[in-house]
Amino acid sequence: MRTSHSITEWRKRRQELHGRTVGFVPTMGALHSGHAALVTRCRAENDIVVASIFVNPTQFNDPRDLTRYPRTLDQDLQLLESLGTDDVFIPSAAGMYPDSSALRIIPSGVAPVMESRFRPGFLEGVLTVVLKLLNLVQPTRSYFGEKDYQQLRAVTELAQTFFCTTEVVPCPTVRDASGLALSSRNALLSPEGRAKAARIFESLTTSPDCASAERMLRNDGFEIDYVEEHWGRRLAAVHLEGVRLIDNVPLPNTR
Ligand code: PAF
Repeated sequence: MRTSHSITEWRKRRQELHGRTVGFVPTMGALHSGHAALVTRCRAENDIVVASIFVNPTQFNDPRDLTRYPRTLDQDLQLLESLGTDDVFIPSAAGMYPDSSALRIIPSGVAPVMESRFRPGFLEGVLTVVLKLLNLVQPTRSYFGEKDYQQLRAVTELAQTFFCTTEVVPCPTVRDASGLALSSRNALLSPEGRAKAARIFESLTTSPDCASAERMLRNDGFEIDYVEEHWGRRLAAVHLEGVRLIDNVPLPNTR
């Protein structure tokens, strides 16, 4: 497995991959079995597997969230290697955002719901970095989890709007035995918090409507950003022990 730490280094390596199908899994590191599922699928469907690890500062509206975001590079590299990854691109913030780069992708005409409402600048930061990464990696396919459902939709639209040749491949959410959606942020929860966080999935799947799901979570001590229904799914963002967690499930009539 090769690692490239600079854009120049990566571009040189990318030329060597000419003529082969390239699958890409963009990540912010702190990898877990959800990422492993993306890489495994990517391995099965492409000649070359590229992952990126970049904690993208522009998608964090809360500086404390950025500072706290778990960073586990050595373990991440071990996991990626064990899954047969060929290349890991680990750019720096200065490399991705040189002083001269002032342009951003700004979603317009998008209803200010969910993440757009509670994390101003989040989608802008994600779309901007994903476009940069797609241009650098030039993947045949790129793999995104359904857990970040609004992100997945926005990235799919980004690729269509800017005529990217990359196919955006949606991948189902991976859950632990309790139903808790795997997330890098779960590592920040206490063992009790982690057990309690399983209630998010339970409330989304068993409540008759959003208001009762919200009530159930509030009674359990969660702070709620939203429980909403869009695109045939019920989606939630909540806070527990100061950690922000998101999840979504298909609505019963679409399951
Ligand atoms: O889902 C993530 O980990 C990030 O939002 C992504 C797509 C790697 C962009 O920074």
